[in-house]
Amino acid sequence: MLGRTALITGASRGIGRAIADLFRSQGATVLVPNRQEMDLASTESIERYCAGLGERVDILVNNAGINPLAAAGEFSDADLAGTLQVNLIAPMVLLRALSPGMAERGYGRIVNISSIWSGVCKPRRFVYATTKSGINGMTRAAAVELAGSGVMVNAVAPGFVATELTRQNNSEDELRKITENIPAGRLAEPKEIAEVVAFLCSSRNSFIVGQTIFVDGGFTCQ
Ligand SMILES: NC(=O)c1ccc[n+]([C@@H]2O[C@H](COP(=O)([O-])OP(=O)(O)OC[C@H]3O[C@@H](n4cnc5c(N)ncnc54)[C@H](OP(=O)(O)O)[C@@H]3O)[C@@H](O)[C@H]2O)c1
Repeated sequence: MLGRTALITGASRGIGRAIADLFRSQGATVLVPNRQEMDLASTESIERYCAGLGERVDILVNNAGINPLAAAGEFSDADLAGTLQVNLIAPMVLLRALSPGMAERGYGRIVNISSIWSGVCKPRRFVYATTKSGINGMTRAAAVELAGSGVMVNAVAPGFVATELTRQNNSEDELRKITENIPAGRLAEPKEIAEVVAFLCSSRNSFIVGQTIFVDGGFTCQ
C-alpha cells in the first residue's frame, strides 16, 4: 500500500472507516470525501469530484451503501431510485471515471462492497439485494475488461457486521437470534472486513480477479 492513493466511499463510519484506518496504517494516502464533497446520490456530484481530483488514484473502494427496508410488493419509487443510485450507479460511475487512468498506468485495484444478501436473502431486502447482486455482476464484467491492464476488480460480501446499519435494521431480539445462527457464533468486527479488502487492494493480490469473497463467519454455508 505504501505510495498508493486510495479513494474510499462512505468512510465516515462503520466498515468504510475501518478500511480507511487500516489503509492509512499500511502506508496508503487515503481520500475519504464526505457527502458535501461528493454526494453519491448525484452522478453530477461524483463526476465533478473526480474531475477536480488533483492526484492519481490507484485504488477505489466502493463501500458506501444504503438499505431502506421494504418488501417486494411495497417499496417506494424514491427508495428504488435512491438505492439503485447509491449502491449500484455510483460505483459504476466511479469505476468509469477512475479505471482508465489505472489501466493507462498499468496498476489498479477496485473492491466493491457487496453483501450476503446477494447470495441468499431474507424478507424486506428486495431492492437492496437486487443492487448487491448487481454489484457482483458489475465486478465480473469490469474484471474481465481490466485484468489485462493490471487492474484487478473484486467484491467483498460481508455478513452481519457490528455497525450502525446492522443495529438500525435489526432489533436487539433479532440480533440475538442472528448471532445464534452464525456458525462463528458472533457478528464480524468492521476491521475483519477491512483486512480482506486490504489484501485484495494490495499488490499481494496478484491473481484473484472478478470474485465476490463472502466474509460471513460461515452464515451462507448453511
Ligand atoms: N453493516 C453490515 O452488517 C453490512 C453487511 C453487509 C454489507 N454491508 C455493506 O457494507 C457497506 C458499508 O456498510 P456500513 O454498515 O459500514 O454502513 P453505515 O455505517 O450505514 O455507513 C454508510 C456510509 O455510506 C455513506 N453514504 C450513504 N449515502 C451516501 C451518499 N448519498 N453520499 C455519500 N456518502 C453516503 C454514509 O455517509 P454519511 O455519514 O454522510 O451518512 C456512511 O459513511 C455498505 O455497502 C453495506 O451495504 C454492511
